[in-house]
Amino acid sequence: MPKKVKTSKNIIKDDQFIDSFLRPKTFNDYIGQGKIKKGLEIILKAAQKRRESIDHLLFYGQPGLGKTTLATLVAGETGANLRIVSAPSLNRTGDLAALLTNLEERDVLFIDEAHRLNPAVEEVFYSAMDSGRLNITIGKGPSSRIIPIDLPPFTLIAATTRINLISSPLRSRFGAIFRLDYYNNEEINTIIERSADILKIKIALDAVSTIAKASRFTPRLANRLLKRSRDIAEVNDIRVIKREIVLEAFDMLGIDEMGLEIHDRRLLEIMIEKFGNRPVGINSLAASLGEDKDTIEEIYEPYLLKIGFIQRTPSGRIATSEAKKWLGY
Ligand code: ADE
Repeated sequence: MPKKVKTSKNIIKDDQFIDSFLRPKTFNDYIGQGKIKKGLEIILKAAQKRRESIDHLLFYGQPGLGKTTLATLVAGETGANLRIVSAPSLNRTGDLAALLTNLEERDVLFIDEAHRLNPAVEEVFYSAMDSGRLNITIGKGPSSRIIPIDLPPFTLIAATTRINLISSPLRSRFGAIFRLDYYNNEEINTIIERSADILKIKIALDAVSTIAKASRFTPRLANRLLKRSRDIAEVNDIRVIKREIVLEAFDMLGIDEMGLEIHDRRLLEIMIEKFGNRPVGINSLAASLGEDKDTIEEIYEPYLLKIGFIQRTPSGRIATSEAKKWLGY
């Protein structure tokens, strides 16, 4: 019998399966974001006491910090169904109407990338969130009519990486807004150890801390680095993941020990070489890097600021001496 060959599709599926396997199933399993957990627990308890559905919630923060996981926990805690949709998939108001009218009482509807909601669809959300009613407009012009449809009580949980793009009418309709922050080093170490335990991986302490240091303080990345280190160990019939294995995984993924990827290094190099490390504005940087200004500001920069590799001054950004040292200047 030929051995079953793993196609890349297969691997991605397995990877997603592992991710859901690693995802905490209760608030007790969830490491970090202590303030948010406390806030959510109070909101959940109060709603349960009053036998009401939970107020609508908005989560924002960098990718990979656990917004979907928290929504899963909120739904799980109340025994509600969780429906997950990405905002760009709701193109027409009819898509939203179909989704909302199919909800069951107390369901949690999770809308990812909420900043990408179509404005017409967003407006339909307003009455659904305020009064649990869907106002459907039939026809156009003077003969158009509005038909209200009552919806079952439900909870909307919206997630975004870009809070500034959420309109204020939408923002004001959430009962609570939570900002997910980077995890600290100890939390990331514990998450890696927990994941290794679940996956029955033997891993040395220095390998855990090497992964933690390169994880950009983000559980999703930490788990990815752990999984790729496991791949290398398995392929080489190595039973315990040591630091060298982790470094091999970094090499394969094109990241360094600070978790910098090629685009981070290019960004810093452009600042240092092209602009002679004089303060540079975001537009000039975006043009030189060939990247969208928002991507730089919201995805690349926060981590580089956090580790002190970039400093923002009133006249622009500069790469710090730590960044130069790390890059070998
Ligand atoms: N896996 C991914 N995120 C996690 C978290 N916050 N706590 C525990 N395990 C995790």
